[in-house]
Amino acid sequence: MEVIIRPTTQDAVNLTARLIADAINAKPQFKLGLATGATMEAVYADLVAMNKVGEVDFSRVTTFNLDEYIGLPPEDKNSYRYYMNYHLFNHINIDMRNTNLPNGMAEDEVAEGRRYEEAIRNCGGIDLQLLGIGSDGHIGFNEPISSLASRTRAKALTPATYVQNSVYFNPPESMPRRAFTMGVGTILDAKRIVMLITGSKKAGIAAQAIEGPVTSMVTGSALQLHPNAVVILDEGSASQLTQKDYYNWVFANEPEWARYR
Ligand code: GLP
Repeated sequence: MEVIIRPTTQDAVNLTARLIADAINAKPQFKLGLATGATMEAVYADLVAMNKVGEVDFSRVTTFNLDEYIGLPPEDKNSYRYYMNYHLFNHINIDMRNTNLPNGMAEDEVAEGRRYEEAIRNCGGIDLQLLGIGSDGHIGFNEPISSLASRTRAKALTPATYVQNSVYFNPPESMPRRAFTMGVGTILDAKRIVMLITGSKKAGIAAQAIEGPVTSMVTGSALQLHPNAVVILDEGSASQLTQKDYYNWVFANEPEWARYR
């Protein structure tokens, strides 16, 4: 795992967007795994801006989102399909037919999980998976004690996630209690993982995921098992990391990061 700490949230966001754009430019038929949440909005704004000036081309990119609320149709403002169209897809030159999310209205939940896994597999797998982290350490909606080998499935959401996400719902009680999510195993199959964590409120959970033990209680810690994972933080979210000097030395000195310094 590599850990990169940038001075400001905007610097962390810019680096994340540049890593994604460079990866797409190196392989136009890119399979990109996407995440939702407030953290990602600025990343998508950056990618939209880069697309507008021709710095990144999405015309042959296929996307797979991590998760979707169960019971919300695509036109619901709180569905992750709506979020993705609103923040990214409607503003870039992507073919909408190549954008994938679990279908929150699927009647057969087991079949929906299987369909999504097959769609990812049929594309040859995800080249880069973008991730945020929830306040309870979840990636996607892999709540505490999710199997580290789990695949796409329906998952009940924890009270902590309910507290974090119900603020977006009106009324808050209308937030679904369940969601489809890629499993931790699905996420770990991606060829590369880029996680973005910003803000001092995430400092504790960031330290647990990065430097704590690998545990299903904090599914973000599963990134420690991945051979090509990078976590990008701002100063606020990095404040409880114990090995900051080491991470900063690596970023300042390793040749692979030279173009991003
Ligand atoms: C949701 C998503 C996660 C995301 C998390 C963080 O719960 N399912 O994929 O990482 O939100 O959200 P935020 O960026 O708003 O803190």
